[in-house]
Amino acid sequence: MTSSLILGIESSCDETAAAVVRGEHQVLSNVVASQHELHAKFGGVVPEIASRAHIERILPVIEDALAQANVTLTELDAIAVGNRPGLIGSLLVGVAAAKTLAWAARKPLVGVDHVRAHLVAAALEDEPIAYPAVGLVVSGGHTSLYHLNGPTQLHVIGRTIDDAVGEAYDKVAAILQLGFPGGPAVDRLAKQGDPAAVKLPRTLLAKDSLDFSFSGLKTAVLYHVRGMPTGRGRAAQFERDASELTDQQKADVAAGFQAAVTDVLIKKLGRAVGRLREQGTAVHSLVVGGGVSANSALRARTQTFADEHALALRLPKMKYCLDNAAMIAALAVHDLQAGNTADLSLEAVATTGS
Ligand code: KG4
Ligand code: ZN
Repeated sequence: MTSSLILGIESSCDETAAAVVRGEHQVLSNVVASQHELHAKFGGVVPEIASRAHIERILPVIEDALAQANVTLTELDAIAVGNRPGLIGSLLVGVAAAKTLAWAARKPLVGVDHVRAHLVAAALEDEPIAYPAVGLVVSGGHTSLYHLNGPTQLHVIGRTIDDAVGEAYDKVAAILQLGFPGGPAVDRLAKQGDPAAVKLPRTLLAKDSLDFSFSGLKTAVLYHVRGMPTGRGRAAQFERDASELTDQQKADVAAGFQAAVTDVLIKKLGRAVGRLREQGTAVHSLVVGGGVSANSALRARTQTFADEHALALRLPKMKYCLDNAAMIAALAVHDLQAGNTADLSLEAVATTGS
């Protein structure tokens, strides 16, 4: 069963994706149709446009994934779909496609939690993860810390109380007029900047808190770049905008922001590992996933952290950091093994506790 052949389908946000995976490691195909170009001019994902694009792309993407893997529907052991959390209209497209295929091909259907799937992405085309572990998901929609005892045995030990890290990256990119999606642009620009040139806050919340808050940092960047506003909300008028900054000044803001974000993430990882070990819980690995796990500074800092704390660092390969369907299929292997399958009443769910 652990070498089951699974078709994964992912459509929770603005990537239409399908993949065929054998067991939890062997990726036979991984097709991702990104919609970034459709949303770029709006500066963020427009849900209506996303659902429409998913409808147009889902069948060709699934056909491509099967063809590239050289696998037919009848050979599959199951069809898995990320059915939660995400944009409801987007999720519905993947769920409807998965249900239809499962019904037509008489295959088991597995509904997968997208955020949890990010936590097994590091095992794709790589070694199994050694548990227990501390998990960190940093994406456009989520920033959460986990105590992991296995791919499906996990509990949340901390989460953001306001913005997700990826969201903060995207907003800072918008403030600096770098385009969408902003994370990779801020990451690139930060390499040219001095992280100490602009002093930005590190919000750590209560002394032992494992939760995160990034909205203060985002606002500090906004005021630094655009000056103090007069008026509130949509009526706010700013003194200037990013076009008045030199390239070096912009790079310094990007570097300062990135340093503040990574400082906070590393600090919270330290608290999480410290707390679990104080409680007598073994922690063997640090598992990171989600779009921001592609970030160069975070990858470097988590490596140093893992070395200092005698942890095996598990970062996904770059192509598995961002949304993909291989991770959906990889997590479904465990559900299928546990008999945890769904029927045609499987629903798309916009929010979950993960
Ligand atoms: O996991 P993901 O593809 O989608 C969600 O589940 O939300 O994450 C997308 C997020 C976006 O906010 C994007 O700006 C961010 O990941 N991101 C990055 C980098 N690459 C993508 N953030 C910082 N540095 C990067 N290199
Ligand atoms: Zn994601």
